[in-house]
Amino acid sequence: MAKYVLAIDQGTTGSTALVVSLDGKTVGRHNTEFPQHFPKPGWVEHEPREIWASVVTSVNQALAAAKVDPKDIAAIGITNQRETTVLWDRATGEPIARAIVWQCRRTADVCDRLKADGHEPRVRERTGLVIDAYFSGTKIAWLLDHVEGARARAEKGELAFGTIDAYLVHRLTGGAVHATDVTNASRTMLMNLARIEWDPELCKLLRVPASVLPKIVGSAEVVGTTRGVGFLPDGIPIAGIAGDQQAALFGQACFGEGDAKCTYGTGAFALMNIGPRPLFSTHGLVTTVAWRIGGEVTYAFEGSAFIAGAAVQWLRDGLGIIRHAKDVEELARKVESSDGVAFVPALAGLGAPYWDQGARGTIVGLTRGTTAAHLARATLEGIAFEVWDLLEAMTKDAKREVVRLRVDGGAVQNDLLMQLQADIAQVTVERPLDIESTGRGAAMLAAVGAGLTEMSALTALAKVETQFAPKVGQPERAAMLSRWKDAVGRARSKA
Ligand code: G3P
Repeated sequence: MAKYVLAIDQGTTGSTALVVSLDGKTVGRHNTEFPQHFPKPGWVEHEPREIWASVVTSVNQALAAAKVDPKDIAAIGITNQRETTVLWDRATGEPIARAIVWQCRRTADVCDRLKADGHEPRVRERTGLVIDAYFSGTKIAWLLDHVEGARARAEKGELAFGTIDAYLVHRLTGGAVHATDVTNASRTMLMNLARIEWDPELCKLLRVPASVLPKIVGSAEVVGTTRGVGFLPDGIPIAGIAGDQQAALFGQACFGEGDAKCTYGTGAFALMNIGPRPLFSTHGLVTTVAWRIGGEVTYAFEGSAFIAGAAVQWLRDGLGIIRHAKDVEELARKVESSDGVAFVPALAGLGAPYWDQGARGTIVGLTRGTTAAHLARATLEGIAFEVWDLLEAMTKDAKREVVRLRVDGGAVQNDLLMQLQADIAQVTVERPLDIESTGRGAAMLAAVGAGLTEMSALTALAKVETQFAPKVGQPERAAMLSRWKDAVGRARSKA
């Protein structure tokens, strides 16, 4: 009898496979990195074949580590870096170009034009998103316009578009299924958020022919079965799909309205469950689909800060003041405070709630006495402040305070960062036992989709390992807040 769920977490820098037993334990895990391509400043590409190869390696290695026979996989769950855009030839399955990655800014000018032409309110009302190069829509049009013959072929129905979930479904089903889940579809700037269907007017505005679009499916349902992939037997159901941030929200068991999580990776992504109605933000957040299960849609507010862990990498690679990213905690602990230094890590512009593409990373408050330790501490504070900005916007938009913040992602092992987060945001930060919430969420969705009821144990794994309660005194916090606000003002490209 099949006893395991395979979760594939296809992220921006690597692909992780998890083999999860029906009582919720991860019995095998493997991560494979793959190359990043930067053909021009601000451009980021992935080679779909390299992504696929990394998935194959991770699945094989995770199965080997778990000593699990592939025949014992009952269901597959997929979670993925969102917005990253692939176009492939329907007949051969071959991508027509490298994927344009979510971080890629090449369509920023198109977005500026759309905004200048006054389309922002309509796009926000229909999709819940702001107009930004981050989302897939303008990336699809770019590929159609810049790959020779692509637009004409698309009009003839010869090309298929997908975010990475759809590309993996295509590969895993031997090309039989062209589908994307609703959470990924909600990141394209082409899906009507209330109706959960492609919006013809937006497709026209962004110049994306309907013929390339996949079918939109739920987050926990069988969308197809494996066929002809070789390393897995035919017939395994793909039973759960969600974008990685939504999968983490699910994996953290944020099932109640107002429940919020933040994932600290390269960037920081905070999501709050807002229930069955798509509320709209007036404070710079986006509205997105959290999941659709059994026909019922749950929505979320999302705020993304593009640089979080990447700021620590910059301390390591750009400044050379630490050797390993994890050393930042020890260095920052050498001082009791940042001594008036504030660092806005806007190293790739500012995302939510500012959406300022031209903002620059900014350090203020330096003196002769400033050391690397002060800078390390200011970096951790800067990450915590970025997340505080997101939570503040959520509190205003949802009209409910965030009192508990569930956290995950590699950086949450940093106890000092977690304590600073609790102090700065005045929330109780809850770190789960197993911080791999994204993969766990995909496994849980697949378990639900395949009807494997024993998987309720996975929810139990979301249980809290450590709580960080706010400790800092109010005067000290107020001084830090005012320094942060001042520094953000200086980092911005416009007032
Ligand atoms: O929206 C982009 C996000 O899904 C990427 O996540 O974890 O792959 O950096 P990650």
